Amino acid sequence: MISFNLNGTQTQVDADPNTPLLWVLRDHLQLTGTKYGCGIAQCGACTVHLDGRAIRSCVTPVSMASGRQVTTIEGLSETPLGKTVQSAWQEVDVPQCGYCQSGQIMAAAALLNEHPHPGESQISAAMDGILCRCGTYNRIRTAIQAAAKGGVK
Ligand code: FES
Ligand code: FES
Repeated sequence: MISFNLNGTQTQVDADPNTPLLWVLRDHLQLTGTKYGCGIAQCGACTVHLDGRAIRSCVTPVSMASGRQVTTIEGLSETPLGKTVQSAWQEVDVPQCGYCQSGQIMAAAALLNEHPHPGESQISAAMDGILCRCGTYNRIRTAIQAAAKGGVK
C-alpha cells in the first residue's frame, strides 16, 4: 500500500510502486482530468503538483508520492488559486480542443504560487515545455498575466 495526501484527503492505493502516478490517478482513483499525451516527459499534458511543485506524472513512480501531497486539476479547482486561474482561463477563452489545458493550468498555478507576479522569462521557464497542438500559447500567457493581476495570493 502506498499512502499520500490527494487533493486534501489521505489516500491509500494498492499499486506496484513503479507504476506511473498518472495511471494510479486515472485508473485506480478515477481522476481523469490529468491527461496522457506522450508518456515520456515531453509534452506536459500529465502535469500535477507534488508538494506544490509541477511534475510530470507519466514519469513519476507512485512510490515518489508516498507521504507527500499530490494535487490534481480536480483538487486545484477547489482552491482560491485554482479558481483564480480557471476564471482567468475562461475570461481569456484560452482552450481550443482542451486536451492540454489541465496540464497548462497546473503548470500556471505552480508558477503563480511561486511567483505571484511572474515576468515574461519566468512564464517562459514554467510554460514553454507544456505543448499545445492547437497553438493557444499567446492566450495562455495573457491568462497568466490576468490571473496575476487578479491578486492570486
Ligand atoms: S504525458 Fe507526461 S509529459 Fe507527456
Ligand atoms: S487546446 Fe488543443 S492541444 Fe492545447
